[in-house]
Amino acid sequence: MSHADDNDSTRRDFIYYATAGAGVVTAGAAVWPLVNQMNPSADVQALSSIFVDVAGLEAGGQITVNFLGKPVFIRRRTAAEIEEGRAVTLDQLSIDRASQNPNKPGTDALDENRTMDEAGEWLVMTGVCTHLGCVPLGNGAGDFNGWFCPCHGSHYDTAGRIRRGPAPENLHIPLATFVDETTIQLG
Ligand code: FES
Repeated sequence: MSHADDNDSTRRDFIYYATAGAGVVTAGAAVWPLVNQMNPSADVQALSSIFVDVAGLEAGGQITVNFLGKPVFIRRRTAAEIEEGRAVTLDQLSIDRASQNPNKPGTDALDENRTMDEAGEWLVMTGVCTHLGCVPLGNGAGDFNGWFCPCHGSHYDTAGRIRRGPAPENLHIPLATFVDETTIQLG
């Protein structure tokens, strides 16, 4: 499904929160409470997963959704962000070399193991600093052009990997999959 027709550039940066872990969060104007359209078994399933429509998200755009009580960042990275992330070698990742990605268990933290798609456009991460749990600032923040946690100064790169500061681990990645070209299922 696509809601791109409803979008305009001023809506791109809006943040939408799903409530109660059930619903569709769009990057456009509509937030659909899906629960009324579901049969009971799908309703039960929805408690542990949500569907996010990313049709309106352009390169450099990011939305934050609430999933199981935590913010999840969904970013469509720019070509420059992808290039920067892919250029990083494992020996530059002195703090955490694990991908922290349950979708690719046991892998190292090379950029391609952090992103959802092969081209590296789509990055989905739990927006919780791995130090003491603050929500990092995004959109190119920090010394590594990714995310910055101002609580105690943790810098994450364009793939959400911890590069400097007290945080011990890369930003965690939730279970996530594309169910069609423009819809991401979390959980
Ligand atoms: S909570 Fe993020 S640096 Fe301490």
